[in-house]
Amino acid sequence: MTRKINTSVYDDDDNKNKITEAVSSFALITGASKGLGKAFAIELAKKKINLLLVALPDDGLPGLCENLKESYKIKCHYFETDLTGKNSIEELCNWATGNFGINILINNAGMGGSMEFELAEAKYLDNIISLNIRALTLLTHRLLPELKSHKQSYILNVSSMASFSPMAYKTIYSASKVYIQYFTRGLFEELKGTGVFVSVVHPGPMKTNIHVRERISKQGMFCKFGLLTPEYVAEKSLEKLFRYNSLIILGWFNHLCWLAMKTVPLWISLPVITKIFKKELAATGTSKDCREVV
Ligand SMILES: NC(=O)c1ccc[n+]([C@@H]2O[C@H](COP(=O)([O-])OP(=O)(O)OC[C@H]3O[C@@H](n4cnc5c(N)ncnc54)[C@H](OP(=O)(O)O)[C@@H]3O)[C@@H](O)[C@H]2O)c1
Repeated sequence: MTRKINTSVYDDDDNKNKITEAVSSFALITGASKGLGKAFAIELAKKKINLLLVALPDDGLPGLCENLKESYKIKCHYFETDLTGKNSIEELCNWATGNFGINILINNAGMGGSMEFELAEAKYLDNIISLNIRALTLLTHRLLPELKSHKQSYILNVSSMASFSPMAYKTIYSASKVYIQYFTRGLFEELKGTGVFVSVVHPGPMKTNIHVRERISKQGMFCKFGLLTPEYVAEKSLEKLFRYNSLIILGWFNHLCWLAMKTVPLWISLPVITKIFKKELAATGTSKDCREVV
């Protein structure tokens, strides 16, 4: 596990500066270096909300942080870490809560892909579970006291349309996303009246990283109807989060799919969904990239 701390917090000998950071509120976003996470960062910066950005090391986080600071005149710090690392959540939270006030948490980092379960390497399965389930849960748990210390705080967890049905060839991904859905809905109820509002967003396909783009193109026409840009998803999700919507689905086609997956019996819908991903696998071969997300 590699970890780098944005030294701008620590280089400053003047304690006053630290106190100023602690009294201003920040939004912490995981997976903020690109894709939907970056879109969330830009959208929050536009709203003049200070940011703590988290992503894997050496993927452009310092540059993005500088740009956001300059363009939107906000405070922005970053922490580079592999969230699947054993101690990474603890280290991240020690840094974050030791230096900043946090009233928005966006659990966005996630990974997945399509592949036959039997052919998947154990590391691949472990990574999906560690990032999508373990990191999201422990980060939320560890930051909750900090979030509760503010008058009003928000948690937004990023699930997927894949959470509304079991899926062949995406078995672990869709199972991890249904975990996020159930975890978030339960926590929403549990935290009512505490000042911490909890919401879950279920994006459909978005052309984010190069692998996802390639795979969306192999999934056929069906998936293209639900296609939205990460910028649109970030903007609308935040709009709905701040309006206290606890379950967020965006776009008419995704609403239609949600309704279909809720109402059509599994023995009918599962083979149809399976066909889509079989088609994708036939076109690409079995994927071994752990960083693919749709
Ligand atoms: N794209 C879609 O079509 C789609 C559809 C439904 C749901 N989603 C969900 O939306 C979220 C964002 O997806 P995306 O398409 O924007 O992904 P993306 O473009 O691949 O970006 C993923 C982000 O997560 C970070 N990340 C990945 N593994 C990490 C780890 N182990 N530790 C720390 N950070 C890590 C990446 O950091 P680096 O830049 O350093 O690699 C990057 O910032 C995910 O939860 C995904 O499941 C996506």
